[in-house]
Amino acid sequence: MAVKRKLVSTRTLETGMRIDQTITDSRTGKEMIIKGTYLDDFQIDYLRSKGIGSIYVSEGDPDEDELEYQMSQKAIETIAKVTKADVPKVEISREVLKQVGEGVQYMFSNTESDSFAEASQNVSKELVKAVLSNDAVAMDITMLKSSDDYTFRHSVEVATMAMLLGKNYGLSRAELEELCIAGLLHDIGKSRIPLEVLNKPGKLSDEEFLLMKQHSLFGFQLLKEKRQFSEPILLGVLQHHEKLNGKGYPVGSPAEKIHKFARIISVADIYDALVTKRPYKDPFPQRIAVEMIMAMTEELEMDAIKTFLRSVNVFPVGSIVKLHNGEHILEYAKVVENFESYPTRPKVVGVQSGQIYDLLNDPKYLAMAVDKLQAKNEEEERVEKVKDPHAEEEKKEEASE
Ligand SMILES: [Fe+2]
Repeated sequence: MAVKRKLVSTRTLETGMRIDQTITDSRTGKEMIIKGTYLDDFQIDYLRSKGIGSIYVSEGDPDEDELEYQMSQKAIETIAKVTKADVPKVEISREVLKQVGEGVQYMFSNTESDSFAEASQNVSKELVKAVLSNDAVAMDITMLKSSDDYTFRHSVEVATMAMLLGKNYGLSRAELEELCIAGLLHDIGKSRIPLEVLNKPGKLSDEEFLLMKQHSLFGFQLLKEKRQFSEPILLGVLQHHEKLNGKGYPVGSPAEKIHKFARIISVADIYDALVTKRPYKDPFPQRIAVEMIMAMTEELEMDAIKTFLRSVNVFPVGSIVKLHNGEHILEYAKVVENFESYPTRPKVVGVQSGQIYDLLNDPKYLAMAVDKLQAKNEEEERVEKVKDPHAEEEKKEEASE
């Protein structure tokens, strides 16, 4: 969201609104409230007492560049002193992402091909290389953009995250290669859902929804018929919507029957679905999505959740975030340190005050949280440009979760 400026009556001002003009005392010429300040009760009273009828306020987040530019000297010095670099992160080039995205797209439309299994090997090879080539232990999911189409992009994102989780979970190289294929193909069964159901613009009937829920079974059958996919891959695909409490689908398998590939893929799958914008829902902020995963202890395996928390980098060091108390923004701040396993509680420095807020270790800041700035082009970035046939199914899935 870009910054929106609007004129507001001082009678309707609320604390936490950001003033978009500087208020000067007409007698002394002294600046009383500086543009960009988040108004508190005292300042609102001051404006009213001076008989000021209306003022300009701004909504939405300023650009990161603008905030860098406005940074106080104190903040600059503190940041230089206390910044600690993040752990090594997965980096994948645009070309590789594009290639893999196109590869997945090819596989969805050529499931009958004799060289299907071979193609899946080839498609996954590059991704495996990119994720496993260095000592990366974390990833910033926003870096991935492999395709405009939701299903293909989602497949690449899930495979990448699943592999990183698998790596931190202690899987062998051979297992990770298989996990990559399972991640890329976890939704391949959607290629067997009749088009009139897949492309139905309106709400699905209960029957149609039941059919949609068969996609993991269809995917399993499709791959099994090829006789070239290992059992872990088949189970990873079949069980990626199963839940540890037995309330998943298509079978409702109990925990002990759910393969570790499926346990890992389902964490990546749910997280990725939560943070992605779809035609029918806004994306959850990453912080909220991480907290939702943390709360899913009935459905997801504890070790997989813990591994996820070690692997995901929500607020990279150096990025600017908004610090708030749940109601309004306190100030913008720069991330200076992340703590292992606590991706939503970084240490940050206020860009105006230069104050250090350690959200993990300082009990004073327990009630505060940080969120990303809303990027101007976030809308265009996260909305898929093609009409998405799977929208309704996932909408329902989410509702049922
Ligand atoms: Fe699925």
